[in-house]
Amino acid sequence: MEVTKIDKSNMRKTILDFPKQFKVGVNAAKKTHLEKWSFLTPPENIIVCGMGGSALPGDILVTLRPLDVFSYKSYRLPLQAGNESLIICISYSGNTEETLSSFETAVGRNLPVISITTGGKLAELSKKYKVPCVILPPPYVPPRLALGQMFAALLQVLKNHNLLDDPIINDLLKLGNSLKPADFELKGKKIAKEIFGRIPIIYNSRRFRVVGTIWKNSLNETAKILALANYFPELNHNEIVGLWRINESQISNDKIYVLILRDKESSHPRILKQMEITKNFIEKEGIGVEFIEIKGKNLLEKFFSTIILGFWTSFWLAMEYKVDPTQIKPIDEFKRKLKEK
Ligand code: F6R
Repeated sequence: MEVTKIDKSNMRKTILDFPKQFKVGVNAAKKTHLEKWSFLTPPENIIVCGMGGSALPGDILVTLRPLDVFSYKSYRLPLQAGNESLIICISYSGNTEETLSSFETAVGRNLPVISITTGGKLAELSKKYKVPCVILPPPYVPPRLALGQMFAALLQVLKNHNLLDDPIINDLLKLGNSLKPADFELKGKKIAKEIFGRIPIIYNSRRFRVVGTIWKNSLNETAKILALANYFPELNHNEIVGLWRINESQISNDKIYVLILRDKESSHPRILKQMEITKNFIEKEGIGVEFIEIKGKNLLEKFFSTIILGFWTSFWLAMEYKVDPTQIKPIDEFKRKLKEK
């Protein structure tokens, strides 16, 4: 297989370099803060607006820190937004209309807002309305793979407003040096071979739900396939019925493969039991299923090592299907149509 012929924009290098993004994001955001912010009182809530790849930093923050964070993915702003909110609008390209709508709503209501982008309209409008804006530097990578920079920039912005007084940024920078994506490539390649020709279903505990979503999104966008994601224990109260005695007139068993991302070390013991029972059910149905063990010294490492494994799986699946992993024609085409009057 001629990888360089299929991987026209060298996504493989972007994945290999992923941990370097943490430092880039932190540095880019060091000086970005609101002028008139009252540093003594924390905001009532933090609202992180963004779509697709640019929504992921907010989703991760929701799980990692006990802050009152809402990850918002639509037009305007959620009901929780008010004068006591800190609103952070993230759009990697700077041209996503839903995020621009949230930004303009915040500016229109004179709410405390900050933006994170590489440029585009979001940078332009931030300049026009004097909104503090983090400009992420080139090279431009696919937004879903710019997660490291965007997440690091988001953390740094919170730190700039005294909203993070713990070592998470240092831990992230340390991880930037120690995490080696090359260590996970073979495993990703192996998983890609197993799920080739099938619909992958990603299951994990609730704490890892954003990681499961990233696997799903990445399989959608990079490998250009349908994929599903759900989490324990909720899935055992509905989705399990769809898998058990699968309706063969809908889809045959051999067209599905279930990957269970499992953190044996820190999951609730009952969740681990649920995972075992579910795996047995699925196996009895003759559906392919396996555990993917989540590893890492802390939650941050567990998140990012598993996310990178998901990137590799999608990348190597794209190689199996011989599709360019970077291009996302349907999203581009959709955005073009949406712009038409
Ligand atoms: C592309 C990707 C998409 C975009 C989304 C929003 O890699 O992941 O989900 O992130 O269409 O665009 P941006 O991120 O430019 O605001």
